[in-house]
Amino acid sequence: MSLLIDNIGELACCDTDFTVLTDAAVVVSGTTVEWIGPAAEAPAADDRWDVAGRAVLPGFVDSHSHVVFAGDRSAEFAARMAGRPYSAGGIATTVAATRRATDEALAANVRHLLGQMTAQGTTTVEIKSGYGLTVEDEARALRIARGFTGETTYLGAHVVPPGADADEYTALAAGPMLEACAPYARWADVFCERGAFDADQARTVLTAAASAGLGLRVHGNQLGHGPGVALAVELGAASVDHCTYLSDSDVDALAGGDTVATLLPGVEFSTRSPYPDAARLIEAGVTVALASDCNPGSCFSSSMPLMIALAVREMGMTVEQAVWSATAGGARALRRDDVGTVAVGKRADLVVLDAPSHLHLAYRPGVPLVRAVLAGGEPVIP
Ligand code: NIG
Ligand code: FE
Repeated sequence: MSLLIDNIGELACCDTDFTVLTDAAVVVSGTTVEWIGPAAEAPAADDRWDVAGRAVLPGFVDSHSHVVFAGDRSAEFAARMAGRPYSAGGIATTVAATRRATDEALAANVRHLLGQMTAQGTTTVEIKSGYGLTVEDEARALRIARGFTGETTYLGAHVVPPGADADEYTALAAGPMLEACAPYARWADVFCERGAFDADQARTVLTAAASAGLGLRVHGNQLGHGPGVALAVELGAASVDHCTYLSDSDVDALAGGDTVATLLPGVEFSTRSPYPDAARLIEAGVTVALASDCNPGSCFSSSMPLMIALAVREMGMTVEQAVWSATAGGARALRRDDVGTVAVGKRADLVVLDAPSHLHLAYRPGVPLVRAVLAGGEPVIP
């Protein structure tokens, strides 16, 4: 079956750069984009979809989420808004609730949150473990996540569980826990931060994970300056995420390596932290991705349009840069070349906005602008 998408107001392609075509049409065949060109020259197709002058762009690639969890931390959020600072300590609350939950309850929560993401235009999502912190609970989280996405990340080294010894837990996370989780994971990640794992502990887990065949990612420089960014670049990680506090040498290291800086502006928004300076990274030549970090502690938002709006309004990104980072940038953070762009031969993951241009994503924050979503050529939001 082929489908001609016609009467597109504006087609945002997001390839190497952000490019916009007007008077364009797209033909989707099966799961992929088969043809893009001037509407007047569009070939015949089995079906025609008139999108009535609306903007079309690639589905969002949300390269960072923690949606396998149970429990509620809204009271912690309220306390934070009343002046208490964010700390990694809240993770233990979610760990306790997650361990108690059934597989079915955890899977239902993932399905629910992924449904919200799809409705807001996300067509590729990464999911981390990290709220189990035992061999069985981490493997269970990843097994459940694997039922929803191929982009699964082992985050056994999220925090040291209460009562455990940090070095013994690091050895567990780099040994038997990694072994149990590796069959369900594409990536491994470590929270390299004061209060979580130091550079040596993080290196131990990440090098073991690389030997087990996993790609690497790092949570770094979220709560303060630290070694996370440098370690990620040193180990050739695909992405270092947060990057809230960056020194000049961190920026130089990122510019000299091929590690993507994934910025999570929903975290700064939800924890009242200073926003990273995305413009500084982009000027230095660093590849920047945007992701939601959807999790019950530091940012309980599943909305990539919100991340785009925050990145533009608070982090010095142009709308074009933010849309690119939420699509093609996310794909680079996951080392994927089949998603995050509208191009011939790529997956037909497309978002139709209830707006004439991509600018509205930042111009109209909080407004549900996603009108329709195609994922692999299938209408998931008709
Ligand atoms: O990415 N930084 C570490 N982990 C999560 C937050 C986890 C939580 O607070 O539950 C994050 O922000
Ligand atoms: Fe995270």
